[in-house]
Amino acid sequence: MKLSQRITHLTKDGGDGWDVFYRARRMILDGYAVTELTIGEHDIRTDPTILEAMDLSARQGHTGYAMVPGTDLLRDTIAARLQARTGVPTTRNNVLITPGGQAGLFAAHVAVCDPGDVGLYLDPFYATYPGTIRGAGAVARAIQTTAEDAFQPRANLIDSAADGAVSLLINTPNNPTGAVYGRETLEGIAKLCRNRDLWLISDEVYDTQVWDGQHISPRTLPGMSERTLVVGSMSKSHAMTGSRCGWVVGPEEVIAHLINLATHTTYGVPGFIQDAASFALNAGHELEEQIASPFRKRRALAVEILNSQNTVGLVPAQGAMYLMLDIRATGLSGEEFANDLLDSHSIAVMPGESFGSAAAGHIRVAMTIDDERFCAALSTICTFAADLAKKQVAAT
Ligand SMILES: Cc1ncc(COP(=O)(O)O)c(C=O)c1O
Repeated sequence: MKLSQRITHLTKDGGDGWDVFYRARRMILDGYAVTELTIGEHDIRTDPTILEAMDLSARQGHTGYAMVPGTDLLRDTIAARLQARTGVPTTRNNVLITPGGQAGLFAAHVAVCDPGDVGLYLDPFYATYPGTIRGAGAVARAIQTTAEDAFQPRANLIDSAADGAVSLLINTPNNPTGAVYGRETLEGIAKLCRNRDLWLISDEVYDTQVWDGQHISPRTLPGMSERTLVVGSMSKSHAMTGSRCGWVVGPEEVIAHLINLATHTTYGVPGFIQDAASFALNAGHELEEQIASPFRKRRALAVEILNSQNTVGLVPAQGAMYLMLDIRATGLSGEEFANDLLDSHSIAVMPGESFGSAAAGHIRVAMTIDDERFCAALSTICTFAADLAKKQVAAT
């Protein structure tokens, strides 16, 4: 039987860079002690106070169908949070609750892309981006950023690739690069979106993890609230990856259509999860800081380790829970380096190439293990790279 191209072409650009990840998982299952620095999963679990709120809500009977757009409480909480942070008037009518940020990214693209329209995204990219755009029926077009620009996008390069495009997807703080886009960069992007009449889909799931600089939501910039769809999530800010609770914030008219889409796809998010999310978001800044601070500390430790050697380069790690390391001095690709590192030292990292061609010759290291093991793994990576670089020099 024939399957739709939409589903069979979802990930047509391969995903070979994930081999090392699957190999590491296999090794762990086979009983090897692997230091796992691949995916963005915290090394702590959801806070017990959040679980208590979830449990209480479920026991009080919030286990039936929840309101499709989300509970009033959670929508109001998110609206108030975004309004306080950005100054943009926001009500529950601007908010749709989704099963995680990923479902929000998909819904946002369905909302603005017709089949065959071009959806732009930036390379390096979060692994699901091209498939998400294709899944919405659009043509996914990547625009390169460069290590030399610290992976900050350039509006003129986006502009020169924007013919036929209806949307641009950006992510700040960025996974995988750790870049936080500055005001000037975002103003350039906003101007381009206004000039080109593009929707801006702004993935802000790491907005509580900023180590250097400040998170600016492009929705705050002039003329942008009417063309920006912000995607957010409880996953990273509150270590609730498994709870699958995210949102899209945008113009009322778009949200009304997205509620209709949700009615015909997800039919909402469990009420007890939403109550737990409302509790967590209203628990105050301390809880968020408790989740962000281990990464802040490890990032500082990493900067120290990386500053004490000169083989491995660190892309300025301004935010999110990853480090993007430049290993080009070793002469290996990110994929070769990651595979050799796994074989020789049982340390699993992601090859830069898994996130697009712009991150070739890099590896992404998730800061998701305890400080001591993290520092030891980073030091091993640096020594391993230095040995490779020496061999490379000797061979030339
Ligand atoms: C950049 C980015 N966007 C979106 C997501 C999806 O997050 P979730 O669906 O768990 O909210 C992730 C998850 O790692 C991510 O890194």
